[in-house]
Amino acid sequence: MTLFDFLRAGRDQKDDLRMDLYEVDRITDTWRRACEGVGLVQRVETVTGTTVVTPEIINITLGTPTSFIIRLLPGQVISDVAEVGHRLAPPLGATRLRLSPRGDMWVRVELMKTDALDRLVPFPDLPLISAQDTVLLGITEEDLPIEQSWAAAPHAVVQGVTGSGKSWWMYSLLAQLAAPRDVIVCGSDPSGLLFRPFKGSRHEPFQVSGLAEPMRHIELAQAVVEEMDRRVTALPEHLDQIEVSEALPLLVVVFEEYPGLLRALDQTDPKLGKQMRSLVSRLLAEGRKSGIRVLLITQRAEANIIGGFERAMCSLRISFRTDNRDAVRLLHPDAMADEGDRHMTAAPGVALLTSPGLPLTRFRGPSIGSYRTYCQTVASRIAG
Ligand SMILES: Nc1ncnc2c1ncn2[C@@H]1O[C@H](COP(=O)(O)OP(=O)(O)O)[C@@H](O)[C@H]1O
Ligand SMILES: [Mg+2]
Repeated sequence: MTLFDFLRAGRDQKDDLRMDLYEVDRITDTWRRACEGVGLVQRVETVTGTTVVTPEIINITLGTPTSFIIRLLPGQVISDVAEVGHRLAPPLGATRLRLSPRGDMWVRVELMKTDALDRLVPFPDLPLISAQDTVLLGITEEDLPIEQSWAAAPHAVVQGVTGSGKSWWMYSLLAQLAAPRDVIVCGSDPSGLLFRPFKGSRHEPFQVSGLAEPMRHIELAQAVVEEMDRRVTALPEHLDQIEVSEALPLLVVVFEEYPGLLRALDQTDPKLGKQMRSLVSRLLAEGRKSGIRVLLITQRAEANIIGGFERAMCSLRISFRTDNRDAVRLLHPDAMADEGDRHMTAAPGVALLTSPGLPLTRFRGPSIGSYRTYCQTVASRIAG
């Protein structure tokens, strides 16, 4: 607004504009003091002594949410601001700051009052036709869908404490993957719930549930490795990976509660745990070209279970709420400290995603509603 606009305005309008000017002043002043408080400053020597400068606000847009553009100080990058975002937000009356780069020197700062992910994401209605179709992983804070074709997906690892939404996310993933004829959902599920709705379907022969007979999990992993070897041997010379089809379906191999499975195998016979690890390692190392996608699920991606090799192979990484920030750092090395801290109180279904070619993304997974709906959806998608 210019002085000219102000003089031309009517009395009510003038009051509004005065309030706006007051608000702009308040934000500018608070921003500067908050930056000083968290040390987001530079000291400049002048003839009259040392002056402290902060990233300057060059434009404010009042609204819901209010946002402004700042000019970074020489040598600063956007992550310097992100690193202290959780400390800058409260004095500005925000729960968090959403930052986006504007060129190399400017950053748009949005004052978020509520969590954009504080809502339900509906389960997608449209069934997939083929393994190439994209599944919905969730919705971002910008309300954009995150979609991934599982035929093009890398191996994946999912972590999160109990109650963080891992199972619901898995329900929505498997319910989407149940329909296409060129996909087989298989693997090990010690809890016994995940594969229940697949009973009697073409998926069932490759699924092992419960821990009553630990050896069956080894046999399953062996069978998948043998299938992998068969596929590699049969690979035509001009192809470097198989083409997924109904005859050679994409095998989505889920290891639910992977550490629990290894523990149970170790307790039966320490050799079995070791054997399972080496079978899974082979699937991770060689499975991609033969149409095999591994999905490891764990409460925490501890380094002794999901080691450096496994992490490197699982480039799709998802973290639901974790109980320490190191767990976040382990799977998402690009996560800022404040992201790791904030994630310790994430709502069920809210997760961080690292995936090839994407910056770290916070999202909410689809909600299928209940276990009963999961079972009904899988049954109808298999039949359909
Ligand atoms: N995407 C979601 N949207 C809304 N609520 C969810 C979502 N995911 C999970 N929840 C809620 O959180 C609860 C625990 O989720 P669950 O998947 O069982 O956790 P976990 O498997 O990690 O222990 C669910 O019963 C549900 O009420
Ligand atoms: Mg669970």
